Amino acid sequence: MTETLLLDRERGLLTVRMNRPDKKNALTRAMYSQLAQALVMADSDPQVRAVLLTGSSDCFTAGNDIIDFLEQPPNDLDNPVFQFMLSLLDCRKPVIAAVAGPAVGIGTTLLLHCDLVYVSRDARLRMPFVNLGLCPEFGSSLILPRLLGQARAAQLLLLGEGFSGEQAVAWGIATEALDSGEAALAKAREVALRFESLPPDAVRISKQLMKAPDREQLRKVIEEEGTLFTQRLRSPEAVAALSGFINRR
Ligand code: COA
Repeated sequence: MTETLLLDRERGLLTVRMNRPDKKNALTRAMYSQLAQALVMADSDPQVRAVLLTGSSDCFTAGNDIIDFLEQPPNDLDNPVFQFMLSLLDCRKPVIAAVAGPAVGIGTTLLLHCDLVYVSRDARLRMPFVNLGLCPEFGSSLILPRLLGQARAAQLLLLGEGFSGEQAVAWGIATEALDSGEAALAKAREVALRFESLPPDAVRISKQLMKAPDREQLRKVIEEEGTLFTQRLRSPEAVAALSGFINRR
């Protein structure tokens, strides 16, 4: 069986690659668990200086697996997706993302918690939570209005409009846009390897200082969003929209 999450160690860099190309790297419960384990391992291993998170050269991820949403919706916050969210929130090492093609749902919201984000210009980011009868998750309802202002955040979170990699850079969601997925990955890798020659304690303390002011509020919001999201998953609106995607052909 193909592994859906690939881990690769290159000197001080741990690369974590979502690898389910036939399903556009849609994230299953097993993949969230493995992602969480990889981040916890990276955080505790002094040899790891940075984590690079990526997908395929033409698709970052289609977000949560929609069949999983319908067949095994989370009941509470003690489940793999929240373990993943908390492991990313708590990771003390720099996390660098390389994004190409679609980055849907949590594929976009997770980027709000990465330290550096390299995207292909034509990457397609989108958070269609409302369109699916759901609500924002992973702190996006707090972070996006602050980052973009209420008017633009509403465009993304209430209308579920998509945006390009280039727009993500203009709006401060991503660091730099590159000409292709390959170029975004190469740039992300080059930057991630730079952390090998930077003093690790200084990097850790600096990241901690940058994240500390919002950490507790963010954790609270992620829990509130998560509780509402799990309720929404069972709502007639969500069941109809999610089933519509599955039955669309
Ligand atoms: N969950 C489960 N399966 C998914 C999926 C998801 N989130 N996204 C894509 N897939 C599957 C499709 O069902 C299809 O499977 P099939 O070949 O067995 O029918 C396969 O991946 C390819 O998807 P397809 O839609 O044909 O690819 P595309 O290139 O035309 O479009 C996307 C790619 C990502 C834009 C589109 O698949 C999409 O919108 N996916 C849903 C995203 C989403 O709403 N995620 C949840 C956010 S909360």
